[in-house]
Amino acid sequence: MRLGILGSGLMGGKLGTIFARAGHDVVFSYARSQKKLVKLARDAGKNARAGTPAEAARDADVLLLAVHWSRVDDVLHQAGDLSARIIVSCSLPMNAGDTGLVVAHTSSGAEELARRFPGARIVSAFNTVPSEVLFGVFEARANPSRPDLLYCGDDTNAKGVAAGLIRDAGFDPVDAGPLRIARYTEPFALLVAQLAYEGDRGPELAYRFERFEPRE
Ligand SMILES: NC(=O)c1ccc[n+]([C@@H]2O[C@H](COP(=O)([O-])OP(=O)(O)OC[C@H]3O[C@@H](n4cnc5c(N)ncnc54)[C@H](OP(=O)(O)O)[C@@H]3O)[C@@H](O)[C@H]2O)c1
Repeated sequence: MRLGILGSGLMGGKLGTIFARAGHDVVFSYARSQKKLVKLARDAGKNARAGTPAEAARDADVLLLAVHWSRVDDVLHQAGDLSARIIVSCSLPMNAGDTGLVVAHTSSGAEELARRFPGARIVSAFNTVPSEVLFGVFEARANPSRPDLLYCGDDTNAKGVAAGLIRDAGFDPVDAGPLRIARYTEPFALLVAQLAYEGDRGPELAYRFERFEPRE
C-alpha cells in the first residue's frame, strides 16, 4: 500500500520505518526540519521518501496521523481533501502540558476527529503502545506469541486496512468495536504510559496482554 505519514516524530518516524521495511511505499511528512524527514526516509530504505503533508496524502491508500493534538487541524488541513480517506490515528487528545486528556469519558479524540473531518474514515490504533517497543515487536514478528494491539472504528473496510498494518508491525490486531470505544482506549493509553514510564518495569508492560486458558 501507499502510506502517508502525517507527523514524523516518535510514533510516525518508527511506524513509517516499520511499514517501509514491511514493503509499503511510505512518505514521511510534517516535522520541523526537512533534513530530519530526508534522514528518516534514507534510514527506512528504498520504499520511503520525504514530502509535504499534501504529497504524503496524494494517492495514499492510508494516512497515519501521529501529531500532538494541538497540531491535528494544521496537519490535516495541509494534507488537503480528506473525503473517503482512511486515517489511522494514534494521536491522543492531550492538553498542551501533556498532563491530561482534553476530550474524555463522554466522547474521545477519535470521535472528535470524525466530527471535524466528516468525510474521513477514522480508525484509532497504535495509541495504546509506547513508541519505545515498536521496533522490538517488529523484529520479533515471526514469534508465534505476538502482542495484542487494540483498534476501533466505524468503517469496516478502513478497519480491515488498519488490521493489516497492525499485523505488518508485528502485533495481533484486537477489534475493540466502533469508534466510540476510543472513549475507553484513550484513557487506557494513559494508564499504559503511567505503567511504562513511572512504574519500574518499563514500556514492555504495555503489550503484555495475557490470554488465560482454562485449566485442564
Ligand atoms: N510517543 C508515544 O509513545 C506515544 C504513544 C501513544 C500515543 N502517542 C500519541 O501519538 C501522537 C504523536 O506522538 P509522538 O510522541 O510521536 O510526538 P512527537 O514525537 O512530538 O511527533 C510529532 C511530530 O510533529 C511534528 N511537529 C510538531 N509541531 C510541528 C510544527 N509546528 N510544524 C511541523 N511539524 C511539527 C514534530 O516535528 P519534530 O520531529 O521536528 O519535533 C514531530 O515530527 C500524540 O498525539 C501522542 O499523544 C504517542
